[in-house]
Amino acid sequence: MNSFVINSVKGDINLGQVSWEAPSNIALVKYWGKKGLQLPMNSSLSLSLSSSKTKTTLSWRKKPKGEGLSFDLLFEGKKKVQFQNKISTFLERVEDKIPNLKDYHLEFDSENTFPHSVGIASSASSMASLALCLGSFAAYSGNESFLGDTFFEEVSSMARLGSGSACRSIYGGWASWGPYQIDNHEKGSDFYATPFTKIDPLFKEMSDFILIVDSSPKKVSSTKGHALMEGHPFAEARILQAENNMNKLVDSIIKGNWDVFQSVVENEALSLHSLMMSSKDPYILMHPRSLVVIEKIKEMRAKTGVKCCFTLDAGPNIHLLCPKSENTSIKRFIESNLQEFLENKNWIEDSVGSLGPKALEC
Ligand code: PMV
Repeated sequence: MNSFVINSVKGDINLGQVSWEAPSNIALVKYWGKKGLQLPMNSSLSLSLSSSKTKTTLSWRKKPKGEGLSFDLLFEGKKKVQFQNKISTFLERVEDKIPNLKDYHLEFDSENTFPHSVGIASSASSMASLALCLGSFAAYSGNESFLGDTFFEEVSSMARLGSGSACRSIYGGWASWGPYQIDNHEKGSDFYATPFTKIDPLFKEMSDFILIVDSSPKKVSSTKGHALMEGHPFAEARILQAENNMNKLVDSIIKGNWDVFQSVVENEALSLHSLMMSSKDPYILMHPRSLVVIEKIKEMRAKTGVKCCFTLDAGPNIHLLCPKSENTSIKRFIESNLQEFLENKNWIEDSVGSLGPKALEC
């Protein structure tokens, strides 16, 4: 029994509240393209961050029967109509798992720990924190599937229905989504993410320096990007590439092989953007300065041998990853060689957070 899930609820089943905080994550093998109901075309693996998080409070109030789903959505205490449709679709999808949801009026109030307009995608952490709150609500209502050890699996599966990458934000450290090979066994599921824990000491403490190249809103949403993978001329090859990269990456993390790790991570980042550029409505999300920063990183690495590698989300900003032991060199490098190419010289130091989501006092 997950007693902390129950104990974190304030109030009662007619009028209550619960708060969760969930981390953002950065994928190393990228989920790109969907099948069925928010299932991934390929497996993925990510790192959950320690400082970039979303906190959500869910308040509920019992209402007369027969009114259907109803909710308010707030961001930092103010109504947010922009995401109304997304949350409405999400709640309709999770109704199967929590049938009594429609007997309550729900209010979600979220806030991010990272600054506005720095181009960090918040959909993973926000949908994960929403799903965790709904999971606690379900457990508090006595819903069997959320009461036992399967709580996080159930919540991950629910978070996936809001935003695919959110299913990996249910765990701290490293998380995988979709099947992959380990020790000649197949592990993982398309329906929910699982923690990945076989980590060589080299990868135990990792930093993620988020280099803000451009914080303008994305020109093409990830939803549109995923859809463009349907009938993409390279779709089949991409699935093979991703599964192959997944196996190589898992092996490198277990064995502590930095060179393989680095080459797979960078191959994945550039492949993601190549898929965008080669789709039937081609588009570019990188900024010219993204390329300058990438070249500078490669140059510095070739000269100094510092262990670091870059990855990109669906946007122009660079995530510069390194073992924590390289932090001093990397900070010095950013300050003296990269800062001038960043928007307002802006960068954020984050790291892999092993703790993961947390139930908070309301
Ligand atoms: O979860 P979505 O639908 O926002 O898609 C995320 C896709 C990438 O961030 C580009 C890759 C990933 O695996 O997180």
